[in-house]
Amino acid sequence: MIAGDADQAEHSGSPTHVGSPGYPELMPPRDTARLRLREMTDDDLDDMAALLGDLRVMEYYPHPKDRTEAAEWIRWNRRNYAEHGFGLWIVETHKGEFLGDCGLTWQTVNGTPHLEVGFHVKPSAQGKGFATEAALACVDHARELEVAAILTAIIHRDNRPSRRVAEKLGMQRNPELRHKSPVHEVFSLDL
Ligand SMILES: CC(C)(COP(=O)(O)OP(=O)(O)OC[C@H]1O[C@@H](n2cnc3c(N)ncnc32)[C@H](O)[C@@H]1OP(=O)(O)O)[C@@H](O)C(=O)NCCC(=O)NCCS
Repeated sequence: MIAGDADQAEHSGSPTHVGSPGYPELMPPRDTARLRLREMTDDDLDDMAALLGDLRVMEYYPHPKDRTEAAEWIRWNRRNYAEHGFGLWIVETHKGEFLGDCGLTWQTVNGTPHLEVGFHVKPSAQGKGFATEAALACVDHARELEVAAILTAIIHRDNRPSRRVAEKLGMQRNPELRHKSPVHEVFSLDL
């Protein structure tokens, strides 16, 4: 995931089928063995500001986000739920411990909107398979939504943990797909 604020604005007009009349009410992905995914709200600002303000989590982003930018991230995702029926969801344990976010957004690849899976896990919870477990639920969810033929992941070429998560989802680097950032590679999976 690469979404900067400019990217977020750019995608507000992306294809929307779900959430339109005739489509069922939209829910987050199913619970997994250890995790629950749910909509982000303003009440998550402390957790999201800590996550997106962490230098380790933001290593491959232009800069860590301050509290104002974290609040905009939450607003961006709430717009995504309203416009598309999906976005990045809060990932937490069944007991409600905050772990990070994970979900589906529209991102520009080859100049057109492509569905992307993205994930961020707080450092103290990394390396336990949480990103993979949450993202697998998002892959299933993407299949059920039927809004895209392929799922992508836009990953900085040096971001090995993220690449490993993509590979464990069954994604492969797709050299035919390009993001405008020259240091990012696009992975994809047929849905
Ligand atoms: C990418 C990220 C979400 C992975 O979260 P996670 O819950 O630790 O992921 P998982 O435990 O499911 O899997 C991590 C994989 O990366 C591997 N990994 C972790 N650190 C690594 C490193 N420094 N070098 C190589 N591989 C590494 C793990 O070994 C594991 O792979 P394995 O199962 O083959 O051993 C987490 O590292 C993160 O939040 N990074 C910062 C945000 C980010 O870059 N998000 C993705 C943007 S595209």
